[in-house]
Amino acid sequence: MADGRVTTGIKGFDEMLGGGFLPGSLVLVRGAPGTGKTSLALQFLIHGATACDEPGLLISFEEFPNSFYRDAESLGWDLRAIEESGRLHLMFTSPEVFLASLESPDSRLNHLIREAGIQRLVLDSVSHFDRLTSDPQELRHLYTSVANGLRRERVTAVLLGEESRSMYSRAFKGGISFIVDAIVMLRYVEIESAMQRAITVLKMRGSNHAKEIRRYEIRPGGIQVLDVFAGRAGLLSGSPHRIV
Ligand SMILES: Nc1ncnc2c1ncn2[C@@H]1O[C@H](COP(=O)(O)OP(=O)(O)OP(=O)(O)O)[C@@H](O)[C@H]1O
Ligand SMILES: [Mg+2]
Repeated sequence: MADGRVTTGIKGFDEMLGGGFLPGSLVLVRGAPGTGKTSLALQFLIHGATACDEPGLLISFEEFPNSFYRDAESLGWDLRAIEESGRLHLMFTSPEVFLASLESPDSRLNHLIREAGIQRLVLDSVSHFDRLTSDPQELRHLYTSVANGLRRERVTAVLLGEESRSMYSRAFKGGISFIVDAIVMLRYVEIESAMQRAITVLKMRGSNHAKEIRRYEIRPGGIQVLDVFAGRAGLLSGSPHRIV
């Protein structure tokens, strides 16, 4: 841990964060399908488990656990082996069960968090809460309960949020952006007929952070944050152009 920061192990990304996440903070990582949200989150947990001795828990609302192991394997990570070390835990559940568990002190979830000494937690993804209610007030209340529950456990939590162009405003209608301490955005950008990936830190309470947009790639071994997109404007609006 650098300067009390929770490092992700993604070098260029930790630099953008001023060393890493703030301990105990809630971080929203949002991006379109396939941008690398799950990969980033897994890397954060694996780095914690293997390099920082910080046990992690991934809670997934996806229905197919096996695809998780397979996707991780394609990035060179043997999740089962890390799970066996006791420093990585994977839990496949539903948003309903998760919410109820978080609120009951005797739940399996709370026992696990305490007994395994979980310090890093990932929710994949918070967008699944959106289908629990169509009422924005209720959704906000729901997100607040999740945030309070996670803060009570003092874990550093990464919440993944799915984003698509048409759902842009809907997906974040519950005001989750206001509830979290930090927001990281992953984006596809089209430059000269090629798709590239861009990462930026949009907000980080209580800390300075880089405002730049950097290029990243997903490769075996994990996410690699590369150079700044220099001399380009409009990257996040979806119509990048060269500054002349
Ligand atoms: N071994 C690999 N080499 C290069 N790229 C890879 C490799 N494995 C996965 N990827 C890339 O990672 C992408 C998937 O990343 P990931 O599953 O983390 O995205 P996601 O944002 O969680 O997606 P979703 O919204 O569907 O859950 C793939 O679309 C692929 O482009
Ligand atoms: Mg994913």
